Parts: sequence; C-alpha cells; structure tokens
Amino acid sequence: MRHLEGAYALIFKSRHYPNELIACKRGSPLLLGVKELNEGVCNASAFHDAKFLSKNGNPKELFLSSDANALIEHTKKVLVIEDGEVVHLKEGGVSILKFDNEKGRNGGSLSRPASVQRALSILEMEVEQINKGKYEHYMQKEIHEQPESLTTTMRGRLIRGGSCKAKTVLLGGLKDHLKTIRRSRRIVFIGCGTSYNAALAARPILEELSGVPVTMEIASDLLDRQGPIYREDTAVFVSQSGETADTLHALEYALENGALCVGITNTVGSVIARKTHCGVHINAGCEIGVASTKAYTSQIVVMAILALAIGGDTISNQERREAIIDGLFDLPNKIRDVLKLDQEMKDLAKLLIAEQSLLVFGRGYNYATALEGALKVKEVALMHSEGILAGEMKHGPLALVDENLPIVVIATRDACFSKQQSVIQQLHARKGRLIVMCSKGDAASVCSGGACRVIEVSYVEDCLQPVVNVVPLQLLAYHLTVLRGYNVDQPRNLAKSVTTQ
Ligand code: UD1
Ligand code: BG6
Repeated sequence: MRHLEGAYALIFKSRHYPNELIACKRGSPLLLGVKELNEGVCNASAFHDAKFLSKNGNPKELFLSSDANALIEHTKKVLVIEDGEVVHLKEGGVSILKFDNEKGRNGGSLSRPASVQRALSILEMEVEQINKGKYEHYMQKEIHEQPESLTTTMRGRLIRGGSCKAKTVLLGGLKDHLKTIRRSRRIVFIGCGTSYNAALAARPILEELSGVPVTMEIASDLLDRQGPIYREDTAVFVSQSGETADTLHALEYALENGALCVGITNTVGSVIARKTHCGVHINAGCEIGVASTKAYTSQIVVMAILALAIGGDTISNQERREAIIDGLFDLPNKIRDVLKLDQEMKDLAKLLIAEQSLLVFGRGYNYATALEGALKVKEVALMHSEGILAGEMKHGPLALVDENLPIVVIATRDACFSKQQSVIQQLHARKGRLIVMCSKGDAASVCSGGACRVIEVSYVEDCLQPVVNVVPLQLLAYHLTVLRGYNVDQPRNLAKSVTTQ
C-alpha cells in the first residue's frame, strides 16, 4: 500500500498462506458482507470449527465486494471498509487493521494491535430490486418503474393539507443547513455524465426560487482548472453511485477550500454521502443498467424540492410554489401517461436504426433534456448523437442540416415555446428531417401540414417538464439499442461506477 498510487480495492490470496485472504482499499469502494447461516441451510461439516461460528453459535460466511448489489442475495449485514484499512480473513476470523502510511514510511511496519472494531450496517434493499422481473433488460425495467421510483423519492418530503393548509416541502438531511445555503454567495453544482445533466435541468428553478447565482461544473474540468471554490460557496455534489472518482476528488478539493458541501446521491453509505456535510438521498432504488434513467428523473425531482426548500416562502411566489408542489404530486401519473409512448418510440427506432447520427435541439429547461437524450443514444445505441442548445443553432449546427440527418426538436409549452417554433420553421426551411416533441394538442402549431413526425407528451409545470420529456428519449435509446443488436445494460467500454480518474 505504501507503494501504490491512485484509487484501488484489492483482494489477495496466496498458496503460501492457505485459507487466508487480505483485502485493502483506497478511493474505490469495498464492502465486507457477513452472512449467518441457519441450521439445515448450511453444510455443517464445513463449519465444525468454532472459529467459523458467530457469537450466537450460527456458522457464518464472509463476502468481499465492491458493490452492495453483489452482496444482497447473500446477506444484508455489511461492514463498509474505510481507506487505509486492511481486512485479514484467517480461519474464519476477521481482523481489520489500520494501515498507518506515515509509520510505514519511517521504517515501521503494520502492527496487529492497530486492529479496529466497528459495528455492522444493514443494507436497506431487497433482492427483488436487482431482478429483472417481467422485463428483458434492466434499462427497460428501470425506465418503466419511474412512476414508482419517483413516488419513493418524494415520500415524506412533500407536505400538503393537514392542520396547516400550506403546501410545503421537507428535506430531513438539509433542514439544519438551509440558512447557510441561503446566505451563500453562490451555489455550485458539480457532477459527471447524467448527474451533471440532472443538475443542469434543475438550475433554472433553483435560480428563480432562491435568487442565489447557480454555476455548473463538470467535476473533471473543475479539477483540471483548479477553479475557484470559496468558503462562502455551497457546493452540491450530484452522483447516483456516490463513488465517481472525479466527483469525489472535486468534493475533497471543495472541503479543503472550506465550502459547505452538500451531497445528492442514491447510495446510502457511499463515500460521497459520508464525506459531504449534509445532503439528500434520492431513494430511487438500486439502478443496475449502466445508462442512468430512473436516477436521472429522481435527481431532478430532489433538486426541484431543494429549490423549494431554499427559496423563501413569500406571498409573491406562493402561487408558483404551490403549482410546483401540486405538479410533483401528480408527476408519477404523468410519467405513466408518457410511458404509453413505448410502441411509438419503438416504431421511430425502426426508422432510425441505420442512421449514423441524431441531433437533439432543446433550450431553457429542456437544454438538459437534449443533452441527456443524446447521451442515452450515444451510450447504449452506439450512434453518434449531440444535444444542442437551440439558441446556438445559427452559430454552427445549422450547417449540418439537410434532408437526411434526423433532428429531434423539443418544443413543449414553456416560456421558450415561440422561440422553438421559430427554430422549427428555420430547420424546416432547410428541409431538415424533423421529429418534434410537443405538449398534447400542439401538433398542428409545431408542425403545420404534417411535414414532420410529432411526439406528444403531457404538459406539467415548466420546471418539471424535463422529467416527462426525457422518458420518450430513454425509450428511443433503449429500442434503438435492442434493434441494432447491442448490449443495452452493459454498453461497450462503459462502467456503471467510474471509480478511477
Ligand atoms: C432519513 C432516513 C430515512 C427515514 C427518514 C425519517 C436514512 C439514510 N434516511 O431520511 O430512512 O425514513 O429520515 O425521517 O437513514 N446525507 C449526506 N450526504 C448525502 C446524502 C445524505 O450527508 O449525499 C446525510 C443527510 O444530511 C442526513 C442523512 O444523510 O443527515 C440522511 O439523509 P436522507 O436519507 O436524505 O434523510 P431523510 O430524507 O431525512
Ligand atoms: C458513468 C455512468 O459514466 O458515470 C453514467 O455510466 C453516470 O451513467 C456517470 O451518469 C456519473 O455517475 P454518478 O454515479 O456519479 O452519477
């Protein structure tokens, strides 16, 4: 360990030390699972030695894994191994030693007395969560379970009715920090991939309700630039896994610079959840498909609730706040509605199956939807795809438009609608091959004369519209991938948790 650089989680065995295992880690996750076997279930002869028995006399099995998902079918009891700890399994016994890097450097060695005692944690997940159920792929299952995952994300966090009639929100993990966040000089969102896109989708509502400037940072870029982070900043780290190396290093950097660090993660006990000062678990349930779907929509919803929690409850914004809270309550139903487009998206995928490229134009709240839709297509369908800010159309992208290149334009009802209508007209004038996403009933006003294909989605409050709008694009990416014959859950060259830089 003294010689290794960077992040790792390693397990060693050796023919010279039979029946022993050594595991150690830095940066990357490592869990020790402990399963107590009941009589009858176990093969008693393998456990005749008292060392293999738990305190209550039951035989035990031990597991080492980098991910709780691999442990859950065996046991819920785990110990989260910390950086610098060495796990030693020998003859049924476990000892955890603290590796003192400095001591080693000065010629000392790892000594047994430094053994540490820690309590086991219980994983809050069920085996069913990691089964595909009636679906063929995890990505498909995760897209279709969004009405339920969003319900779980919002459970206990929206308050409507009761003795005080007011509609309000509650984020247990943040309530003691809201004052500090409101007073901060700016809020900086930091993340990678889909998590960055989710933060981008939530940025306008956070700016509107809090009045605090909100800036965006891709974690690796912040680190490359060593961009300024101040004590007066609130840095919000968005990460589904809570283990992404770049986001984690950016967190360490922000902690060194004295900012208040807030986590938004899906994984209780993950390193980002533990190292942030406070935060919110999105509770979307375990996500297995490499391409993030349900975590994305839950992240946006949590950040919309965050905006409501930070924003002042003034008379002038009461109507807006209540409309958003009502919209959140109704969101699972709206997602059920939009999931009915499954066959329509499959038919569209059949038309696009042989294309080389797909552009997605969005703006305002739905610039993030354009980036995320394109990222999904790129990640799993292995087709070139770009999300483009429609306001930038004339500054380059227009040169690509011809009668062959398919272009999705997101033009649902919001403050940018008339600008998007004008974009559609200009693309149309250049014979663009358009697929327009619009609010139900708007087909004629976005596409007169039936000159383009239309995807109609339910209307919701503008800041929640990205949650609805991304679903048809997730379905499109899914069907394109299956039709093109690629691996949808484990796309080429990609990993679910990117724990190295
Ligand atoms: C918590 C409980 C939940 C319980 C609810 C009852 C946990 C994990 N959650 O949910 O089971 O039903 O109270 O009121 O026990 N945190 C971070 N960084 C992060 C994410 C979270 O520091 O990235 C911290 C929070 O500040 C908080 C704790 O973790 O102290 C739990 O956060 P969260 O699960 O979001 O809190 P509640 O929704 O209140
Ligand atoms: C990887 C995943 O690239 O990491 C993406 O394949 C994900 O789906 C990105 O968006 C960031 O991961 P996380 O766990 O920090 O949200």
